[in-house]
Amino acid sequence: MRRFVIIGHRASSTGDFKLDDICGGAGRLDVLLRSVNSAFFLSHALRRDVEAYLILQGGKDAPKTLRLRGDELRYLNPDERSTASLVRNALLKRGGEGELRASPGIYVSREDLEEVLDRLAAESELIYLKEDGEDIREVELSGDLTFVLGDDRDLSEEEERLLEGHPHRSVRLGPRSYHTDHCITLANNELDRRGL
Ligand SMILES: C[S@@+](CC[C@H](N)C(=O)[O-])C[C@H]1O[C@@H](n2cnc3c(N)ncnc32)[C@H](O)[C@@H]1O
Repeated sequence: MRRFVIIGHRASSTGDFKLDDICGGAGRLDVLLRSVNSAFFLSHALRRDVEAYLILQGGKDAPKTLRLRGDELRYLNPDERSTASLVRNALLKRGGEGELRASPGIYVSREDLEEVLDRLAAESELIYLKEDGEDIREVELSGDLTFVLGDDRDLSEEEERLLEGHPHRSVRLGPRSYHTDHCITLANNELDRRGL
């Protein structure tokens, strides 16, 4: 299983944003939507062995986490606007405690980054994607990985401290600073090449 945890530092935790304003009013939700696209889409198929966690830290109902499961996902299309609509519907449905299934393959909860990392560290290896990490081409990887990335901003010191509370490796994908969704494409490609 491949997992991607993307930290939406200002991404809206409420469903009251306009679909025409996902870069502004929704707190750079566009970065997370493109990341979903990179995590799941192949040319004519969905990656069923991928899970994506969108940590929504913006807006008055933060934090919330959206979990997308490739093996259950339906109604996901490659355009950002329709994915924004799935996200908005999930955020509008949020009820009580625990995790709620908002639509096939999309779950919403009040988990924060710390809770998500605690859970994933117990069942997979954490890989912090970081520009000054170890070169991915020099790193041995297993098939059960959780990649952690920032959005348009890097992880804060506090978020890095949460990661440091767990065994993890810091890994770089190349010599430049890439967009989050491009990092996910590169990581998927690297694992595909290794047959993982
Ligand atoms: C757009 S970058 C963050 C902002 C960027 N540091 C800047 O100066 O504008 C988004 C995230 O992608 C990941 N990232 C970007 N370039 C990377 C690289 N070369 N290797 C590994 N991860 C990278 C990091 O997790 C980073 O937080």
